[in-house]
Amino acid sequence: MSQTYNLAVIPGDGIGQEVVPQAVKVLRAVGETFGHDFEFTELLAGWVAIDAYGVPIRDEDLEVCRRSDAVLFGANGDPSRDVIRSEVRPERALLRIRKELELFANLRPVKVTPDLVPHSPLRPELVEGVDVLVVRELTGGIYFGQPSRRWEEGGERRAVDTMYYTEGEVRRVVRMACELARTRRGLVTSVDKANVLSTSRLWREIATEVSEEYPDVTMEHLLVDATAMYLMQNPQRFDVIVTENMFGDILTDEAAQLTGSYSLIPSASLGAQNNRHGHRLGFYEPIHGSAPDIAGRGVANPTAAILSAAMLLRSSLGLEREAAAIEAAVARALAEGKATPDIAHNGVALTTEQAGDVVAWYVREAKV
Ligand SMILES: NC(=O)c1ccc[n+]([C@@H]2O[C@H](COP(=O)([O-])OP(=O)(O)OC[C@H]3O[C@@H](n4cnc5c(N)ncnc54)[C@H](O)[C@@H]3O)[C@@H](O)[C@H]2O)c1
Repeated sequence: MSQTYNLAVIPGDGIGQEVVPQAVKVLRAVGETFGHDFEFTELLAGWVAIDAYGVPIRDEDLEVCRRSDAVLFGANGDPSRDVIRSEVRPERALLRIRKELELFANLRPVKVTPDLVPHSPLRPELVEGVDVLVVRELTGGIYFGQPSRRWEEGGERRAVDTMYYTEGEVRRVVRMACELARTRRGLVTSVDKANVLSTSRLWREIATEVSEEYPDVTMEHLLVDATAMYLMQNPQRFDVIVTENMFGDILTDEAAQLTGSYSLIPSASLGAQNNRHGHRLGFYEPIHGSAPDIAGRGVANPTAAILSAAMLLRSSLGLEREAAAIEAAVARALAEGKATPDIAHNGVALTTEQAGDVVAWYVREAKV
């Protein structure tokens, strides 16, 4: 019997409006090919929502996200409107969704497939076979700790931010990293700055305790500065990296550069809540932004959005075979050079729509 899955879809601003429909197209192909029923509810968030409703996201739309099985997102933001000093900012939509859905872990897979090797800024022998999953703690640490303020004293401007973690916040994200490592090569690198920071010493202590629950997983501890260095020097050594919010923010961007193309990398934010299928309610988005410089021209690369849909199938719906079919279809399209101008290397570039069509077509062929 075919299952029905309810998916909230938020294209957002700029190229989000172009790439997310391609991911939806590919999900429809998966539905038809593998016999699943996907119901899509499209919502507005970001500037498009501010223009339509006066708020970055409406309460009732947040509720739709909370009740869905997963959320597929594009991007928010328009730098030409950043001059507007306003409390109503598009970023609020993402922050509210993260909070409402309790999304405490951000997963960013970075895989350098053979076709990507020439695009990497590193030498081929360093990046061949790189397959790293960075798990970033998303709702704690210095981005949320209090006090966070600035003031003047003795004629000097001063400011403070606070890095703060509880045992529970560390435990749940490290556990998630260990669970994920079990489905991969079984190595977790826990990253901290335990030689300097108290929060990092707590992090290391809890990570060590958690690792005892997973005897089949190997855990190592690395300082964040050493990790930044090894990501350039020997990225093949990593499997799963787990770290706190700010270190993760920086390391995920560094790791993403290993592929040489930022328009190919998906991400998942997973949280404390389960959906009605017993899997984690998750939020899936490409790592790139709204790319206003190319928006509306039909040249945006939809790969990261399509691979985000694959992550959605795997992590929020438990549809591993279907996720793998999308990933294989994307790999085939890239290997054949069927790509948008940012990565096309044989002179014939596809439009965003055509790139989506190719992947949807290859997914349909997967079952033949
Ligand atoms: N999660 C998000 O919603 C998110 C993430 C990053 C940036 N932003 C926002 O996006 C806006 C633009 O930010 P930016 O320019 O720094 O980053 P960006 O990712 O939007 O663009 C950076 C560069 O990469 C190119 N690019 C990005 N995605 C591409 C794709 N799919 N295909 C082809 N080329 C692509 C762009 O054309 C641009 O040259 C800002 O308002 C920023 O705040 C949002």
